[in-house]
Amino acid sequence: MKRLFIASRGNPEHLAQLFRAELPDYEVLTEQPKAGDPKVPFIVVGRPLPGVIRAVPGIKLVLSLNAGIEHLLASGEVPEELPIVRLVDEGLAIGMAEWVLAQALSWHRNLFLYAEQQQRGEWTPQVEKLANKRRVTVLGAGALGRPVAEHFVRFGFDTRVWARSRHDIPGATTFAGMDQLLEAARGADILVNLLPLTAETRDIVNANVISVLADGAFFINGARGGHVVDADLIAALDSGKLSGAALDVFRIEPLPADDPLWKHPKIRLSPHVAAPTHQHMAVKEMAANIRRFESGEPVLHIVDRHKGY
Ligand code: NDP
Ligand code: OXD
Repeated sequence: MKRLFIASRGNPEHLAQLFRAELPDYEVLTEQPKAGDPKVPFIVVGRPLPGVIRAVPGIKLVLSLNAGIEHLLASGEVPEELPIVRLVDEGLAIGMAEWVLAQALSWHRNLFLYAEQQQRGEWTPQVEKLANKRRVTVLGAGALGRPVAEHFVRFGFDTRVWARSRHDIPGATTFAGMDQLLEAARGADILVNLLPLTAETRDIVNANVISVLADGAFFINGARGGHVVDADLIAALDSGKLSGAALDVFRIEPLPADDPLWKHPKIRLSPHVAAPTHQHMAVKEMAANIRRFESGEPVLHIVDRHKGY
């Protein structure tokens, strides 16, 4: 019988049932296989404890339950020769688009301001602009960045997208490479970060990038906390260069109780929920990739270790 092991810190039983339904000819294990056990070619990983992946005998493919896989590369946990497949599915793309657009439209239509005014019993109409009077820059044009940018285009925002390579996104202006980062961000009213966390993108949202945004811009981070220099973000919020920020991800999660981001009046936090993995959708994607691997077809969404994503 073929075998698959789910290495997840939570309770993997529901996930195991979904895999058993999708791959009925597989034995789905939720307990760590021991040395000398029969080989387990497929391992499905959340954020397993150190050493777990290496200890599984006979792995051929590592399938991540997450889109972001920096933890699997950074820890040296996954032997170099093993392919890592990251999660790319519609559930993540829809979830991220909902969360980013909810934040962007709330800021654009002054809903955050009106909520504050309501607390004070204040009736003050703000200047209401249409989307075509606002510039949005999306950092990242991947599985999540692209659909988000397409939504902004549909709403009529002046949409700019920056990635490593040049993309063609109808209705958006696209930019590529570090040389064009500041040009892409210049004058943006809303900056959205949807980059992977790599050596090149760590700390990328810093005072330099923030300085070229429009005065009073809004920053949305749905990617990783390590992209942002928190001290620069807070300084920009305090000076008014940024009028607000929506943050879903943090350098340390859960965000420590004494972190200044918690109490900053211009920051809206959510506990890393922008695009949760929907297990039934993720399992279908992973099972399809396992079948591809078994039949010798190319496996989709293999991480490029050199690029780091
Ligand atoms: P992808 O790998 O699909 O896309 C990455 C994009 O970033 C690509 O367009 C790539 O460019 C671009 N990029 C990478 N490196 C660079 C660089 N050095 N310079 C310029 N552009 C670069 O990632 P996803 O869209 O799947 O994920 C985006 C982020 O969202 C990740 O950080 C992930 O961890 C996070 N995430 C957060 C969730 C949440 O709930 N908050 C849930 C899921 C994911 P190119 O196209 O040229 O390769
Ligand atoms: C992911 C995440 O990377 O949930 O999938 O952040």
